[in-house]
Amino acid sequence: MSKQDTHFFNTFSMIIGGLIVIALIIFALARVVAGRTQEPEVYSDPKYVDSVGERIKPFARVAVAGADNSALVIAAPAQGSAIALQVPKDGPALYEAVCKNCHAAGLVGAPKFGDRTAWAPRIAKGKAALYEHAIKGYVGTAGAMPAKGGRTDLGDELIKAGVDYLVLKGG
Ligand code: HEC
Repeated sequence: MSKQDTHFFNTFSMIIGGLIVIALIIFALARVVAGRTQEPEVYSDPKYVDSVGERIKPFARVAVAGADNSALVIAAPAQGSAIALQVPKDGPALYEAVCKNCHAAGLVGAPKFGDRTAWAPRIAKGKAALYEHAIKGYVGTAGAMPAKGGRTDLGDELIKAGVDYLVLKGG
């Protein structure tokens, strides 16, 4: 081995050795820190334990005859909760909330809002026909218009107001 080689080898070993020592120190430090936080603050945190229990609990529960099944009562969602669908207040609001999903971009063959050529032959059928098709649903040559745009929970009058808006402003 030449002198340079020996020198290189020594320096190289020293650096590698130093890096290994640093890595060990970081590892030990991480263990110490985690030992004081991970266990008490995460794994034994009652909130964490509850949330895990909630996530891994069985999907279905079975009522057993003769046993106390009171914990299985299915509670109706509270009135006005986030699950309850919003009821639009008028035609334009209905359009924004429901009809727009298809009629804005012309999805699945829906005549687009503002597309006079697409609306003219439909308007020619008369309001009564359009009301009926919007309320009861309609399968035409372009596609399928679902009854009430899918919101069968809404009243007929509101749907009519939506049709009026669609035809007046968008037809
Ligand atoms: C899932 C998509 C979709 C939604 C949501 C939707 N429509 Fe439609 N609508 C269609 C399609 C598709 C047509 C065209 C059917 C055809 O003529 O083939 C149509 C057609 C119509 C027509 C014309 C019917 C005719 O006789 O030519 C009216 C009026 C109408 N929709 C009103 C509404 C109203 C009001 C709403 C909101 C309450 C609504 N639509 C929501 C898809 C939709």
